Amino acid sequence: MVSTQTQIAGFSFDNCLMNAAGVACMTIEELEKVKQSAAGTFVTKTATLQARAGNPEPRYQDVPLGSINSMGLPNHGLDYYLDYLLDLQKIEPDRTFFLSLVGLSPEETHTLLKKVQDSDFKGLTELNLSCPNVPGKPQIAYDFEMTDKILSDVFDYFTKPLGIKLPPYFDIVHFDQAAAIFNKFPLCFVNCVNSIGNGLYVEDESVVIRPKNGFGGIGGAYIKPTALANVHAFYQRLNPTIQIIGTGGVLTGRDAFEHILCGASMVQVGTTLHKEGVGSFERITEELKVMMAEKGYESIEDFRGKLNHLN
Ligand code: DHB
Repeated sequence: MVSTQTQIAGFSFDNCLMNAAGVACMTIEELEKVKQSAAGTFVTKTATLQARAGNPEPRYQDVPLGSINSMGLPNHGLDYYLDYLLDLQKIEPDRTFFLSLVGLSPEETHTLLKKVQDSDFKGLTELNLSCPNVPGKPQIAYDFEMTDKILSDVFDYFTKPLGIKLPPYFDIVHFDQAAAIFNKFPLCFVNCVNSIGNGLYVEDESVVIRPKNGFGGIGGAYIKPTALANVHAFYQRLNPTIQIIGTGGVLTGRDAFEHILCGASMVQVGTTLHKEGVGSFERITEELKVMMAEKGYESIEDFRGKLNHLN
């Protein structure tokens, strides 16, 4: 009788695993495959106002311990994803899905969020403050003043459930400063973490992706300790009304278990989903359930956030 069911912002999901934005979510065909898999829900590729082709290829490479990418926000534009989600709401009124978006400027971000606010969309919106791959555009969430201003302006008009996708932070003072900002707003969730930005992978005397001279966001096994640290740091600092979505380095059920132990209410799969396909959801779910059964846990609430510290 083990269940991996979860809730975010009062919405129920049969499974706490889903895709990480960027993987298996650019087209309706890919999203349908995730929807029909063992995943509890999906998030759409981060959308901008206009469709974008993104950076030149090759721009994503799986490597033995993870992945590196500099996609450059290729996407079909907000209307493509929003129209699909509005259709889906009629066909599957009992399921809830996530819409990811960010503008190329604060003004564009507000235009996007106002469109969502004025639509019939009833799902969860994830504002991506952590895209590392658009040349000349720094990650918003590494600029605390900008982050505070954007969120403050957003909550002047946005009343639907909203969360933010964060980059990894690496300093305790930054956890404190970021959490103090997020706690000022009625956010439903924070998603920790996006890729570790601007790594460099070298193979045979060369980089492996074309954009930005080979610099790109790192995902996969490389990033699990950083992801868990961010999940746990924000779990300890944020108001209990702000839930945590854990993303980064989920290859196995044990990895998902660790994210939940650190405080995650939902766990996203990125690089592993890219390498293994949507069958990874069933495998990781089964591994997680076996581990929960061995420990006598029936639901993820039985152990969520209960990481032991050494005295
Ligand atoms: C892209 C990468 C990201 O990590 C992200 O959050 C958004 C977009 C990209 O390169 O497309």
